[in-house]
Amino acid sequence: MDVEELFQAQAHLYKYTYSFVASMCLKSAVNLGIPDAIFKNGQPITLSELVLALQIQPTKSGHVYRLMRLLVHAGFFATTKVVKDDKEELGYDLTPSSRLLLKDNVPTLSPFVRAMFHPALVHSSESLPEWFHRNETTPCDTAFGMSFWEYLSQNQEFNGLFNEAMVSDSGMVNLVMKNCKSVFEGLNSLVDVGGGKGGVGRIVCESLPNLQWTVLDLPHVVENLPDSTNLKFVGGDMFQSIPSADAVLLKLVLHAYSDEECIKVLKKCKEAVSKKGKTGKVIIIDIVVGQRNENHELTEAKLFFDMIMMVVVTGREREEKEWEKLFLEAGFSHYKITNIFGMRSLIEVYP
Ligand SMILES: C[S@@+](CC[C@H](N)C(=O)[O-])C[C@H]1O[C@@H](n2cnc3c(N)ncnc32)[C@H](O)[C@@H]1O
Repeated sequence: MDVEELFQAQAHLYKYTYSFVASMCLKSAVNLGIPDAIFKNGQPITLSELVLALQIQPTKSGHVYRLMRLLVHAGFFATTKVVKDDKEELGYDLTPSSRLLLKDNVPTLSPFVRAMFHPALVHSSESLPEWFHRNETTPCDTAFGMSFWEYLSQNQEFNGLFNEAMVSDSGMVNLVMKNCKSVFEGLNSLVDVGGGKGGVGRIVCESLPNLQWTVLDLPHVVENLPDSTNLKFVGGDMFQSIPSADAVLLKLVLHAYSDEECIKVLKKCKEAVSKKGKTGKVIIIDIVVGQRNENHELTEAKLFFDMIMMVVVTGREREEKEWEKLFLEAGFSHYKITNIFGMRSLIEVYP
C-alpha cells in the first residue's frame, strides 16, 4: 500500500473515531437553539449577533466560531458575506438540514434529534462491544438491567421525549401520505395496526371519506381518543387479534420486532384481510436497506438505524430479500415495493 493510501486510511479511521464528537456538536446546536436563532434573525447572522442571541458569554465567541466551522463543513449551516457597519463579515445561514431542526416548523425533527441523545440510547450504544460477550437480549439490557420498553415505562420524562420524537419522525412520512391516494383507492375499510393517535388516518380520510379507518393500538395509547365519522380507535394487541378489513397498514412498526414476532403479526394480518373469501392487502411503510439508486448517505443512515434497533430492541432494518422471506413464511404470495418516503419504502403485500 502506498503512503498516500495509508494517510487516506488514517483520515477515514479518525473520522469514524470522532463521529461521536460530530454528534455532540449537532447536540450543542440543537440544545443551544442555533437554528432558531438564525431563523429569528431573518437574515444570515454574524458571529457576534449569534453569540448575543444565544446568550453565550462573549469569551466563548471564538469557540462558537469553531463549532460553527465544523457544522458548516458538515452541511448543517451555510456561510455568506454580510455587510455590517460598512464592513464585510461572515454570516451564517440555514441549510435544508438545519431547517428541519426549527422548533416550530412543520415538519420538525428537533424532538427526534433531542431524544436520540438521551443516556438511554447513548449508554446503551456504549455497551455494544461488551454485550457481544454477554447473554442479555440487547445492549440496553446490559447498560440498564432492563429492556428499553421497561426503561420507558419507568422514566416518564424520557417516555414523553420518545413519544414526541416518534411523532416528529412520522411527520416526514405524513408529508407525502396525501400523494398516496392510489394505494388506498378502492378500499372500503382499513386497520392501521400500531397507528398511535391516528395521524396518518386523519390525512388519508380527508381525501377518501368513504374509507372506514380503524386504528388498533395498545389500550393505554388509544383510551379517550375521540372517534370521528370514518376514523375510530380500538384498544387491543396485534399479536392476539386484528379486526378484519380490506387492508391492514403497518407504518414504522415491524422494524422494531424480531423475524419471529413479525411473522406472527403478518399471519394475523393475512387472516384479517382474507376473511369472507376476500383477498385484500397489507401495506407496510418501513426501511428497506440497499434499494436501487440509494446514495451512500441514505444507505449509511439506514444502517445506523439498524444498529439502533440492535442496541435498544429486538428489531432490525431489513434488505428486500429479508422482507421477502418474512412475507413468504407468513403465507403471502407476492409484494411490490415503491420508494417514495426517502428513508422509508412503501411495500404492498398480497395473500
Ligand atoms: C413506532 S410507533 C408507530 C406509530 C405510527 N404507526 C406512526 O407511524 O406514527 C409503534 C406503535 O405500535 C404500538 N404497539 C406496540 N405494541 C403493540 C401491540 N402489541 N399491539 C398494538 N399496537 C402496538 C405502539 O403503541 C406504537 O403506537
